[in-house]
Amino acid sequence: MCGIVGYIGPREASTIVLEGLKRLEYRGYDSAGLAVIERNGKIALRREVGKLVNLENLLREEPASGNIGIGHTRWATHGKPSRYNAHPHIDCSGKIVVIHNGIVENFLSLRQRLQDEGHEFASETDTEVIVHLVESYVNQGDDLVTAARKALSQLQGAQAVVIMSSLEPDKLIAARLGNAGGVVVGVGEGEMFVASDMPAILEHTRKMVFLEDREIAVVTATKAEYFTLEGKPVSKEVHTIPWDPVSASKGPYRHFMQKEIYEQARTLVDTIRGRVDFEKGEVVLDDFGISPDELRRFKRMAIVACGTSYYAGLVGKFLFEKLVGIPVDVDYGSEFRYRDPYIDRDTLVLVITQSGETVDTLAAMEEARRKGTKIAAIVNVIGSQAARLADGVIYMQAGPEIGVASTKAFTASIVDEYLLALYMGRIRGTISDEEMRAYLDDLARLPNLAGKVLEHGDEYETLAREFHRKEHFLYLGRAINYPIALEGALKLKEISYIHAEGYPAGEMKHGPIALIDENMPVVAIAVRDHVYDKMVSQIEQVKARGGTVIALATEGDEEVARKADYVLYVPKLSYLLSPVINVIPLQLFAYHMAVRRGCDVDQPRNLAKSVTVE
Ligand code: AGP
Repeated sequence: MCGIVGYIGPREASTIVLEGLKRLEYRGYDSAGLAVIERNGKIALRREVGKLVNLENLLREEPASGNIGIGHTRWATHGKPSRYNAHPHIDCSGKIVVIHNGIVENFLSLRQRLQDEGHEFASETDTEVIVHLVESYVNQGDDLVTAARKALSQLQGAQAVVIMSSLEPDKLIAARLGNAGGVVVGVGEGEMFVASDMPAILEHTRKMVFLEDREIAVVTATKAEYFTLEGKPVSKEVHTIPWDPVSASKGPYRHFMQKEIYEQARTLVDTIRGRVDFEKGEVVLDDFGISPDELRRFKRMAIVACGTSYYAGLVGKFLFEKLVGIPVDVDYGSEFRYRDPYIDRDTLVLVITQSGETVDTLAAMEEARRKGTKIAAIVNVIGSQAARLADGVIYMQAGPEIGVASTKAFTASIVDEYLLALYMGRIRGTISDEEMRAYLDDLARLPNLAGKVLEHGDEYETLAREFHRKEHFLYLGRAINYPIALEGALKLKEISYIHAEGYPAGEMKHGPIALIDENMPVVAIAVRDHVYDKMVSQIEQVKARGGTVIALATEGDEEVARKADYVLYVPKLSYLLSPVINVIPLQLFAYHMAVRRGCDVDQPRNLAKSVTVE
């Protein structure tokens, strides 16, 4: 949830740390702070509640100058948002500071013990126990690295931690315990970086090292050394990330979400790139990581994800059951991990996670691991924990998704599921050559059709002007578009704060139709497919009760236009890929509604891009 940035090198640390925090603000932001070791050898600590701009203003009044520093944007878990609860936290001596992401589950007992030893606490946070623990070992004569290892070994729960001290001002210590969100070490030229997410440091370097659970990095200006928490040296691979800094910036767009919606015509090409041999009519997933023999063995699938990624999993159920011919269950990560699911070695578990750091999804992976089955992952963030935990990985290849509301990652996830389903279907003999060619032809048309939908972005401003004062919405869909109704509703509620509910259209008569009146607009997905007639009659039922209907219809459909109050047209596409196109108008509608309501589109209240706490 929180954003972490550290720097050590020849340049001004506070500038680099602040810029990095700005690129992480989407991760969590109710307060922020940074600490720098100044040239006089003392730690300068600057913290401010509220948005990052408040910290920026404070630094303008009270600059902090030095070549080594750490910074943090906070999404509060323990202790309300305030200056004294903001990170970094400092020890009694004023010589050690810590920033942290995660939850110290045993902080109360540690705090009590440290207070009994005479440590005075200045905040309500769990984080502060870390800095006093380190201090207590330093006071016993340990060097900083040893003190850090001993302190971190006592923490229960998942953490990402960075420690800095004026006692040893030539190093930063970064550590990862459990799945509290990543710790990335950026390898520069004569300078080094630490961050919770790559976008924070991407403009400085593309060479990244990812810490695993219970690993420590000792980072100086020229290099990093890696150890286990027990002190055993570890050799780490330096990944070169193909993302360019521009892709992690807004460019000409007003919001990251807007940019990421409009990028989809291109990102869908990127997702497909390198995975289809159109000449041979084959899907190529050679580096997938789970062998064809193993893929032949599975008798069922369990898809596990959270939020928007869960809705991509619901679409995946249709794809895998149709193309692979095996039963598919779909679970929320937060439910799967606690329901003791029936999973055996004949079950392929597939997780979908843009960030690769969602703690409920990661916990579900560990549950699946305990049950001894194979795990595949569809992930966007390279080197993320999910990518490292899985046996087989398919990257979304959608580029950094900064907006909290997931858009391009959602459509990329569905395409990845489609590719994997075709790949498995071919291996298992459930798809003939000509069927494969037809499926691949449909896929080849997808990016261009997405671009056509995106050409009509302006009409959503009109709709938003009409509807932005409404406080309730119902989204209806059937079959493979029922998950799209759910996703459309989530987009609207999470960025415009309007109460919106997605519902299977066939269920309306079992209760929800009682809600229909002039204050409950309905978005109905009524494209030309096998349930079209049912959806048209659904629209009639809503209209008969005085409701207002915004219909999603197939280009040229005049019947729906006669019955609905507003129509958003989408091009005709194969049933299995239609969700990828049908979601785009709902993304645009939600975006314009949120803008019209003056909401913080990229950083909606109470939300963060990566949910790394339970
Ligand atoms: C979607 O718009 C939300 N931001 C949220 O539901 C998100 O999809 C969910 O937290 C899962 O994130 P992940 O894909 O990174 O695991």
